[in-house]
Amino acid sequence: MGTKTIGIIGCGAIGETLAAYIEKELKPYVSGIVFFDVVRVCAEKLAKNTANSKIFSNIDDVVASSDLIIESAVGSCVPDLLRKVIDSEKDIMIMSIGGLLTVKDLLVEAEKKGVKVILPSGAIAGLDAIKASKVAGIKKVTLTTRKAPGSISGAPYLIENDIDVEKITEETVIFEGNVTEAVKGFPKNINVSALLSLAGIGPDKTKVKIIVSPEYTRNIHEIEVESEAGKITTRAENVPFPKNPKTSYLAALAAITALEGYFKNVRIGT
Ligand SMILES: NC(=O)c1ccc[n+]([C@@H]2O[C@H](COP(=O)([O-])OP(=O)(O)OC[C@H]3O[C@@H](n4cnc5c(N)ncnc54)[C@H](O)[C@@H]3O)[C@@H](O)[C@H]2O)c1
Repeated sequence: MGTKTIGIIGCGAIGETLAAYIEKELKPYVSGIVFFDVVRVCAEKLAKNTANSKIFSNIDDVVASSDLIIESAVGSCVPDLLRKVIDSEKDIMIMSIGGLLTVKDLLVEAEKKGVKVILPSGAIAGLDAIKASKVAGIKKVTLTTRKAPGSISGAPYLIENDIDVEKITEETVIFEGNVTEAVKGFPKNINVSALLSLAGIGPDKTKVKIIVSPEYTRNIHEIEVESEAGKITTRAENVPFPKNPKTSYLAALAAITALEGYFKNVRIGT
């Protein structure tokens, strides 16, 4: 693989972390980086610290100038962006995976056209084993997520149901449903559920429970899977990422690892 130009759409906590990692560790693989953020100053900040970089003011120019596009912005931009990436036969890494659920067909199209779509494992553990279990047949998948009130505030589900999480004083189940409903209600908080559903039995059959308590200092994701190959239980207790407490530190690290996997030849694990 020759050197590539990377386009980063969304220059917040994850975009900044990836740009810094590329600059430090992936220089031999990367000929340049281009940035776009709806808040231009965020892109300018990253470009200032990155060699061979450019800022664009729209998604079309980023797609046209890049070999690999990294989406680290917002779920609502994913359908249009993925369409453009497929039409241009580029590759893409998507962080706002909830935004994919309405355009799952595009994944089939990407596969046919040879467009690589990378969905990092985020802040959950066990996706390797869940993917392997799917080969045998999965019967049931449940995700239980525990979060501090601050990391979930402003979610549409809370507003629609008049739930003030700041008033919660003890462990409280605030949501139970499937992934389709969870992603609608908590578009910025529950990307891992979308990912889990794509790896397993889909968004309508994958169950989600969200529990909030002021006692929680970490974002905890527990997964239970029952399949023909046995039972899997995983639990990840994630430190919030200082640059954006709604994001887990592990999710940023998983993005780095997925990006490395795109460039490197030796692959450890599934
Ligand atoms: N897959 C996962 O496990 C996982 C984990 C954490 C976060 N995420 C998702 O990744 C995304 C980035 O997370 P973050 O912590 O860096 O968020 P962030 O809020 O720190 O940064 C997002 C950046 O994107 C910019 N932006 C918003 N809408 C845009 C658009 N339409 N086009 C271009 N730029 C836009 C914002 O101005 C901001 O600078 C979010 O959607 C988040 O929900 C996914």
